[in-house]
Amino acid sequence: MKNNPKSMIMGMGSAVPEKVLTNHDLEKMVDTSDKWIRERTGIEKRHILEEGKTNSDLAVDAAQRALEDAGMSAEELECIIVATISPDSFFPSTACQVQAKIGAVNAAAMDISAACSGFLYAMNLVDKLIGSGQYQNVLIIGSEVLSRFTDWEDRATCVLFGDGAGAAVIGPSDGEKGILSTYMKSDGRLGYLLHLPGGGATCPTSHQTVDQHLHYIKMAGQEVFKHAVRTMVDAAIHGLKRSGHQVEDVDLLITHQANVRIIDAVAKRVKLPKEKVFINVNQYGNTSAASIPLAMDQAKKEGRLKKGDLCLLVAFGGGFTWASSVVQF
Ligand code: UT7
Repeated sequence: MKNNPKSMIMGMGSAVPEKVLTNHDLEKMVDTSDKWIRERTGIEKRHILEEGKTNSDLAVDAAQRALEDAGMSAEELECIIVATISPDSFFPSTACQVQAKIGAVNAAAMDISAACSGFLYAMNLVDKLIGSGQYQNVLIIGSEVLSRFTDWEDRATCVLFGDGAGAAVIGPSDGEKGILSTYMKSDGRLGYLLHLPGGGATCPTSHQTVDQHLHYIKMAGQEVFKHAVRTMVDAAIHGLKRSGHQVEDVDLLITHQANVRIIDAVAKRVKLPKEKVFINVNQYGNTSAASIPLAMDQAKKEGRLKKGDLCLLVAFGGGFTWASSVVQF
């Protein structure tokens, strides 16, 4: 049976920094090649935030576009959630920085940390906050400046990541459009496979942590790859089941954009043809929590998400965390 949506996306926006770093640029920095990066990941370029700007600046650009798209003012917002693993600082939260910068004086603001699943975690939680009647106007943003946490001497990771932000204003459903299902899961036992070991309470910043490059992202690529495929398939199946839809009903699959080979493997296993799969990892690399909203916004602007379309959103990230959502546009 089809679910009745409680909340819906009222507006979307995204932002990427102007500066572009191509695979050829990376060839001059580490022992890699454009051919290797394209063949193994599908990535051609990524955007890098300029010095002097920070995560909340990017988040604000995306947020203002989403507010404009929704026809809403910042003062009308009741809650702001930023999903990020590259915050301006440990605290105050990046969401509070965004609140101050856009003048959302009536909102509560907080960050959530679920790595690349962060935006879907935020959207799923907000669906419940709106469904319960707590809030009507909520802004969620996935925003990352992973370039600041990337080891530019480590070819195994530095070719993968990029900076960007995507935002959505969520409000009560009109009864037809909206979020039809939500699904979230984690497995903390596997956190060590994708993590940033230094700078926290376990391993506070010291000369040693800096010398050992512990303040940068570490990843066991092959292991992460396998789990990414397995868990995103799990999330897709559960999300669809909860929404009351079949895979044949899906108009567009948007997965977390980490690697085109992962996206292809997920699509194949859930039996969705290439033309129903959105890919922009070639242009932006892996932007973690920003990847799903960046892709959604682009898909909508390119006419690949039209009124009435059913969109299956699926994410996987460090933690490990994974999530899905089925949205009727
Ligand atoms: O956002 C969270 C989710 N993140 C992901 O989903 C990422 C998941 N992992 C991946 O996408 C892939 O595992 C990678 C793209 C990271 C790596 O691709 P792979 O096909 O798993 O390569 P690999 O790690 O098995 O490495 C193959 C070879 C190795 O050389 P040898 O040992 O075969 O001689 C690496 O040293 O490729 C080498 N290599 C590189 N060569 C050129 C690793 N990085 C590079 C590089 N350029 N940048």
